[in-house]
Amino acid sequence: MQDQFGRNITYLRVSLIDRCNLRCFYCMPQGFSNPFKEDELLALEEVFEIVSLFQELGVRKVRLTGGEPLLRKGVPELVAKIKSLPGIREVVMTSNGVLLNAFAARLKQAGLDRINVSLDTLSPETFRRITGLDKLKDVLDGIEAAVACGIAPIKINAVLMKGWNDHEVTALAAFAVERGMEVRFIEWMPTAADIRAVREDRFLSVDFARRKIEEAYGLIPDLSEPFAPARSFFIQGTRSKVGFISPLSNAFCPMCNRVRLRANGMLKTCLHGKEDLDIRTLLRSGCPRERIKREILHTVWRRPEEHFLNNASVPHNDFVMTAVGG
Ligand code: 5AD
Ligand code: SF4
Repeated sequence: MQDQFGRNITYLRVSLIDRCNLRCFYCMPQGFSNPFKEDELLALEEVFEIVSLFQELGVRKVRLTGGEPLLRKGVPELVAKIKSLPGIREVVMTSNGVLLNAFAARLKQAGLDRINVSLDTLSPETFRRITGLDKLKDVLDGIEAAVACGIAPIKINAVLMKGWNDHEVTALAAFAVERGMEVRFIEWMPTAADIRAVREDRFLSVDFARRKIEEAYGLIPDLSEPFAPARSFFIQGTRSKVGFISPLSNAFCPMCNRVRLRANGMLKTCLHGKEDLDIRTLLRSGCPRERIKREILHTVWRRPEEHFLNNASVPHNDFVMTAVGG
């Protein structure tokens, strides 16, 4: 499956739900009260059906995201079914880790290949201020459980924010190094949840984090994953890697191999683009598989060359992370 700019689409990110059991201020819209209704959400059987279409079109890697994907019932079973599709090489997940302690073993057994856990701070107080809930311990227990049952590599995602966790960069790296995990620092992005934040007040370039870690450890560039959005480095003398993600730079667009399925069955061919195809309606109206596949091919062909986040004249205050799954 190719787009008009010659990019091959092999990676599907699937948001299973737009709700979350945390309330990170930069993600969940203020007073978020308009989640998808039950019948707007894809049933997990429908998710599987759509994933299987994408698999037939050449998708090789599937990531389950949210909101918080583990809030849906039946996720380990879904992982196992997707894993059993012939073309699928990898099924991975992004989770906030709160429920991971309860699910790690079942996910591993189902064949989950890897997991990314969001963790911005190691301070219980800062965690509570960022996420609104006192659940750092649950997340840390979840990470330990995932390590213990052999889900590897685990990646920690930390959103870097001035005045919030900039003093914790080295501590987060040390946390990852001690456990043989990878840590990735993500530049804060303006979204609908956070329109009152002034960019200059919160934004910190990931170069800051890179310098901090270079002071504490040496860094060796890792060029093995050219399609990854993170600039990745081995941390010298350890088993760990560190990555730096700048969502606002378009550097990654020319190699972008991914499309997204929202929890309501809308296909998005660019994170910041518009919604492109209502697959739920096609599926529920009994549209034949081959026709849905043709529609997907057409839609993917037309995807935009790059996102517009660097274009200050284009507002992106309507961007809701939980609805598109990051
Ligand atoms: N800016 C940067 N990263 C964000 N995430 C959620 N909202 C934002 C934002 N406004 C991150 C989460 C998670 C990943 C899926 O996206 O912290 O690690
Ligand atoms: Fe939930 Fe992740 Fe959004 Fe935080 S960033 S509210 S954990 S979906």
